[in-house]
Amino acid sequence: MGRMRRLLSPFAFPFRRYIDPRFRGIHEHIDVAVDHHLRPHVDKRAAELKRELDGLRMRMEQFEARVTADTQTAAEFATTFRRSTDRLTSELHTAWAWLAGGESHLADLLARASEGDHAAEEELGKLLRELQPGAADRVVGAFEGVDLPIGPGTADFLNWASGHTGPAAQAGVWFNPPVTVFHHDGTVRPGDVNERIVEIPWCMGVAASLEPGSHVLDFGATESTLSLSLASLGLEVTATDLRPYPLSHPRLQVVVGPIEQWSGPEHPLDAVFCVSAIEHVGLGAYDESPTEGELDRQIVEQFGQWLKPGGELVLTAPYGHWAVDDLQRVYDANHLDVLLHGWTVTHRAVCVQTAHDRWERHDSEPPSSTWDDGTRGVVLVRATPPKG
Ligand SMILES: C[S@@+](CC[C@H](N)C(=O)[O-])C[C@H]1O[C@@H](n2cnc3c(N)ncnc32)[C@H](O)[C@@H]1O
Repeated sequence: MGRMRRLLSPFAFPFRRYIDPRFRGIHEHIDVAVDHHLRPHVDKRAAELKRELDGLRMRMEQFEARVTADTQTAAEFATTFRRSTDRLTSELHTAWAWLAGGESHLADLLARASEGDHAAEEELGKLLRELQPGAADRVVGAFEGVDLPIGPGTADFLNWASGHTGPAAQAGVWFNPPVTVFHHDGTVRPGDVNERIVEIPWCMGVAASLEPGSHVLDFGATESTLSLSLASLGLEVTATDLRPYPLSHPRLQVVVGPIEQWSGPEHPLDAVFCVSAIEHVGLGAYDESPTEGELDRQIVEQFGQWLKPGGELVLTAPYGHWAVDDLQRVYDANHLDVLLHGWTVTHRAVCVQTAHDRWERHDSEPPSSTWDDGTRGVVLVRATPPKG
């Protein structure tokens, strides 16, 4: 081969002389394109990815510190986490390798883009986004196929971490999902389905019919995205809760503290949303001081005074056999009548959990649910306030 090349080289020389300057030209284009079009984006993204990596490493250390009591969990989690951060690092390297001109398609695009070809510029932009396809988003969660590196310790940890006592909940940024995700020994699958699966659509039925700019109240708003949805739909929302509401929106006003001590809204209300909240009031379940008397009735009465005539209360609550404990009330038909004394109930539905992952509508007869034995029912109500 070497001999052949030597023999041919005198003939190749004129070609090389012709070709080399053209190559140089292309490389100049590429350099310009890299410097002006691509490098600033990639530099910026690389810096972002690096910051994310640093943040993730710091969180990994924090997680490890949290779970040192369970050494198996800590070790498994650390391995999993490292695998994910390694993947992120390798994606970064791939991005840089592409930049180095290893891909002829990229070189061609860069050359065309540097000549002002908009289609090439657009394709370059798309390519860039593909070069870092949500890399950081996939950290930790990016387990492919069924061969998941989740042992029992890690599964417990992840179930705790995604639940109502995990780090998100502790930071006040946990939103109770209708469908939980369950990790167990190498699998991740849908877990329990809770009453939000029917409560939120019930609210949205009303929300969708309200004019933009309508004034609404969301009582017990924390741990739910409902207030944000309502504001995003163009409604003027007041979110009230004992605890801060962590989401913000120009149409969203937050009132923190016991609603019974609040002076009330500035405008008469078109609707009050009260999702899985009235059953808890006054019981001390949220570290508030327990209240004597029927605080649930007083609050509902207050809603009636804040609503415009014809405005609507959209209320959901546990339903079955009447019961009260330190956490909540479970209403039955009689107690619901007492709660809504004087109101006109325009719509009412009862839904019952018939399997851990299933809720069904059950209007014809009251459910036997007690909530103690794991059978759960909810009542969904729309009502207009007492007149006068
Ligand atoms: C089950 S939680 C959240 C329900 C939420 N609407 C949802 O859909 O997930 C009930 C909420 O009611 C709030 N709450 C209970 N008593 C309250 C009171 N007196 N005043 C204001 N908020 C109260 C609690 O702080 C808690 O966030």
